[in-house]
Amino acid sequence: MRLDKFLANMGCGSRKEIKTLAKKKQIFVNKQVVKKTDIHIDPEQDQVELAGQVISYKPFIYVMLHKPAGYISATEDPMHETVLDLLMEQDKVLEPFPVGRLDKDTEGLLLLTNDGLLAHDLLSPKKHIEKTYIAHVAKPITTQDIKAFQQGVILDDGYLTKPASLRELDDKVVEVIVTEGKFHQVKRMFEAVNNNVLYLKREVMGTLRLDPNLRLGEYRELKKDEILQLKGK
Ligand code: URA
Repeated sequence: MRLDKFLANMGCGSRKEIKTLAKKKQIFVNKQVVKKTDIHIDPEQDQVELAGQVISYKPFIYVMLHKPAGYISATEDPMHETVLDLLMEQDKVLEPFPVGRLDKDTEGLLLLTNDGLLAHDLLSPKKHIEKTYIAHVAKPITTQDIKAFQQGVILDDGYLTKPASLRELDDKVVEVIVTEGKFHQVKRMFEAVNNNVLYLKREVMGTLRLDPNLRLGEYRELKKDEILQLKGK
């Protein structure tokens, strides 16, 4: 792994800031001062010091992706492109996987990480993590639909959903907040009230909101405070 990537991943600043630190002789690898930050190191073996502090290797990656339609939320698929195909090779080194699923035609916020514990917590039904979606629907919603969502609706397999909130944003454009993640949940909830989702986008998952600066297909690593918030710290 490149030294600057390693240090940036460990929250030691941007690559540019790290370059400046190297110029100031603040970075040592195996007790040797390094001036170039594009050298490759083995994070498991090499000892990296920054301004006199040993930087220990925490091998986690947290990526916020603005998922476009057309990609499967999986790490591999024999037929279709997956969300992993949207990541650069260097960001796949730590083997992130999508936290939950967005349908192939759903857009919006998708978290990818290799932090299994966090993924488990975010997906656990017991945690009631809120997910906010914007849906374009075939018919305008009614006050009855809002009430039905509030009470929970019965899906095609007989499952009674947890209460969800439904808010009209525009004619046939609604915000839906759900706390569970059943297969095709939002689409099936609308089917339960004789409506249809034509377009679906996720904007929020727990404390994480899709960065409006990310265009479709773009991604960025989470900031330290975003990770801490997601972990409830
Ligand atoms: N609900 C759906 O129906 N589809 C998604 O992709 C996410 C939630």
